[in-house]
Amino acid sequence: MKEVLAELEKRRANARVGGGQRRIDAQHARGKLTARERIELLLDADSFEELDMFVEHRCTDFGMGESKIPGDGVVTGWGTINGRPAYVFAKDFTVFGGSLSEMHAQKIMKVQDMALRNRAPIIGLFDAGGARIQEGVAALGGYGEVFLRNVLASGVIPQISVIMGPCAGGDVYSPAMTDFIFMVKDTSYMFVTGPDVVKTVTNEEVTAEELGGASVHTTKSSIADRAYENDVEALLQMRRLMDFLPSNNQSGVPEIPTRDGPDRVEPSLDTLIPDNPNQPYDIKELIGKVVDEGDFFEIQEAFARNIVVGFGRMDGRTVGFVANQPMVLAGVLDADASRKAARFVRFCDCFEIPIVTFVDVPGFLPGTDQEYGGLIKHGAKLLFAYSEATVPKVTVITRKAYGGAYAVMSSKHIRGDLNYAWPSAEIAVMGSKGAVEILYRAELGDPKKIQQRIKDYEGRFANPFTAAERGFIDECILPRNTRRRVVRALTMLRHKQVENPWKKHDNIPL
Ligand code: HXC
Repeated sequence: MKEVLAELEKRRANARVGGGQRRIDAQHARGKLTARERIELLLDADSFEELDMFVEHRCTDFGMGESKIPGDGVVTGWGTINGRPAYVFAKDFTVFGGSLSEMHAQKIMKVQDMALRNRAPIIGLFDAGGARIQEGVAALGGYGEVFLRNVLASGVIPQISVIMGPCAGGDVYSPAMTDFIFMVKDTSYMFVTGPDVVKTVTNEEVTAEELGGASVHTTKSSIADRAYENDVEALLQMRRLMDFLPSNNQSGVPEIPTRDGPDRVEPSLDTLIPDNPNQPYDIKELIGKVVDEGDFFEIQEAFARNIVVGFGRMDGRTVGFVANQPMVLAGVLDADASRKAARFVRFCDCFEIPIVTFVDVPGFLPGTDQEYGGLIKHGAKLLFAYSEATVPKVTVITRKAYGGAYAVMSSKHIRGDLNYAWPSAEIAVMGSKGAVEILYRAELGDPKKIQQRIKDYEGRFANPFTAAERGFIDECILPRNTRRRVVRALTMLRHKQVENPWKKHDNIPL
């Protein structure tokens, strides 16, 4: 008996060194942790239960029969994050560059199936070069099956991808079908294929960072939702994110006790809006002062900064915040901002996370750039997302709510449940100056008359009361009471029941 125990320990020790000490040292020298070190940091101490540690590939081509490493380039299993179960797989770059073989795919599929069956989130830590080149179609088939499982689990359990090394091919397509992608600055890259192949095919010379570094994907392509300084920070932030997310689409949001009173009054909000309507202010200040303990997890903070989205808690329960940001492009809605917010709203709706919307929007951004870029279709995504969402929706208009953007930003007309306005709200088809210049074109030569017209228009629409007279605003509230009002609204809406008409699925303008 003693011998078999020793044999097990020997085999385990052998599997744990993956591609060998030389490659582990190279991994460390690049500032990266190994797959197992990453899992240790992500999960609660001693909670990891590894599966399939001894799985090996079955390829015999290109001398692969002599080159087998237990685990075959991916560490899989499950554990807990702050006490809640989560499934995990971590690519081991020290084993054939973390590339995916038929058997490596089987390991991932096993945890994907377990996560879906048991309705718990799955987190993939990626550091891998895509399909294992030596295996050819067997590897491609494996990817196809992983992709299928990504899609079937979408909207049922949260799927999170963390990119922690150079990733190509299937190791970027699978993440692209998950809910969120996070990257590590300077050590992680995402591209369909790397700079060498790019050079061969298109003759373009480009560095890995320029082609698919975190700086590109968090600001230009919007593929990545956030980037972190190093592996440790990324993994600790994933633990924080998981505390905001429900385990599945039926579990309800987690509840985390807070010392922050639901009735907390914030007098400083009464002076947040500047006297000059064209002067910006930071909408994140409002979010920070309203959420529990100022704790806000922002998504896509570096992309389309004219809209802010992310998770916070109100009286202990997760809420998704969407807010126009007057500090950037005056908070205008453009194609990028619309896409960013639409995807976030849909995530919240999938997982029954209530949505709180803060509105200060001068309209949609006009111009050829936007029109050629498909503003109509992208703007429609946000309108579609808000309209179809059946989760509790609470809206607060702080200042401008102009034109189509007024209707889009979770207005009463598209099933906003409770729509509040601060006394500083202005709800109109457009700003007073623009409106007067169209309505009174003939008087444009007379500045005095025009000034009076602007004043009249402002008197009529630069307030929340005209909308409130029609019931489009449920109540005008004092800024200082925003937290209390929103908490109460969400409590009242907790058991909201709305069903959309039966359909196979909708046809959102993609
Ligand atoms: C087998 C691979 C591999 C792969 C890397 N390696 N990628 N082995 N199949 N796909 C091995 C290398 O041979 C090397 O082995 C080790 O991993 C480290 O790789 P390096 O190239 O030395 O590392 P680095 O310079 O950091 O470059 C990493 C890389 C690059 C950017 C990922 O290796 C690369 O471009 N790989 C190929 C990417 C690719 O095009 N994959 C196919 C995608 S197609 P040793 O023994 O030296 O340690 C695909 C289809 C899916 O995935 C379907 C999509 C719809």
